[in-house]
Amino acid sequence: MSSSARHWYFNQRPAGDIDDQTLVLREEPLPPLKDGEFLVRAVYMSLDATNRVWLSDWDIYMEPVHLGDRMRGFVVGEVVKSLNSNYAAGDLVAGLSSWSDYIIDNGAAMQKLPPIPGLSLADAFGILTVAGPTALVGLMEIGKPKPGDTVLVTAAAGAVGMLVGQIAKIHGCRTIGIAGGAEKCGWLRELGYDAVVDYKNENVVERLRALAPDGVDVLFENVGGEVLDAGLTVMKDFGRVVICGLISTYNASGPVPGPYMFRNVIMRRLTIQGFVILDYLDRYPEYQMQLAGWMQQGKLKYRLHVVDGLENAVDALKLLYSGGNQGKLMVRIGDEPR
Ligand SMILES: NC(=O)c1ccc[n+]([C@@H]2O[C@H](COP(=O)([O-])OP(=O)(O)OC[C@H]3O[C@@H](n4cnc5c(N)ncnc54)[C@H](OP(=O)(O)O)[C@@H]3O)[C@@H](O)[C@H]2O)c1
Repeated sequence: MSSSARHWYFNQRPAGDIDDQTLVLREEPLPPLKDGEFLVRAVYMSLDATNRVWLSDWDIYMEPVHLGDRMRGFVVGEVVKSLNSNYAAGDLVAGLSSWSDYIIDNGAAMQKLPPIPGLSLADAFGILTVAGPTALVGLMEIGKPKPGDTVLVTAAAGAVGMLVGQIAKIHGCRTIGIAGGAEKCGWLRELGYDAVVDYKNENVVERLRALAPDGVDVLFENVGGEVLDAGLTVMKDFGRVVICGLISTYNASGPVPGPYMFRNVIMRRLTIQGFVILDYLDRYPEYQMQLAGWMQQGKLKYRLHVVDGLENAVDALKLLYSGGNQGKLMVRIGDEPR
């Protein structure tokens, strides 16, 4: 068993993009466990677009990560030693913890993860921790699509977006996905998206007008900026706009412009609602059961983009903002338990 642990610390607030000074990796001796504590060997860590938001000086939806703190992230791992009677060596635990290879917890941040039959640990963690519940809540509870509705999804080839389009299809909707580049647009077609728009190579508004001449009922927004404006331009009367994320603005160092088509909130009588998945934690068992069922039945396709090594976490995180990730981005910190 290791006598030391590596942790990423928040070292310097980024002015724009995350750089090599933003987070630093340090190795420290592991202190002895106290009564009630257990030691976790981390296996996978989720990288999420909101990680950059936690490092900002914005007024955000939860406590930010403060300078000098360990970087926060969703982690799954295996208990390797325990002084807590509720947790035993070999238990799988998951929760919102830190970017570390070994973690000491007492059940406050990490709780037992029941195994899900038929799903690998990587699939269960990658899809059921953040991306799946976010797609399900945002689409079904906020977007409230009806069969036959046209649902437009931005960052559609990403972790959340790849699932939103498929859940919309399961509910009888027509789906249009926006993504950057031919490879991702090809992947969207494989997922069953009815139509795709390559925002890097096509005029998005023109394409959307051609693909949805009667307009869009539900816009599931992950991007913001010009992509959001394009969506707002083609909404149908009484359409619903789900603001899940605004990733194109997370690295901004000053105020961001727009949206310029905000007038369509009136012209098209739109409902716009944002949400944060952490507000729905009490309903996770229900969402995870639903999503795991679709995964086991082969109704939800997905791809995981797994980067090896805790030391590569920062370079991996940058992929989310450059579009370099192909599917749910996560870091493999250690081997899966046998
Ligand atoms: N509200 C919530 O509770 C909640 C929970 C989870 C995630 N989210 C949000 O959901 C969104 C997707 O997150 P994710 O973790 O699933 O990441 P992801 O979609 O797997 O990866 C991010 C993708 O965003 C696209 N992108 C990045 N910068 C862009 C830009 N400037 N313009 C256009 N597209 C850009 C890239 O795809 P392309 O290659 O196609 O450009 C990139 O691959 C984020 O906005 C995130 O904040 C919200």
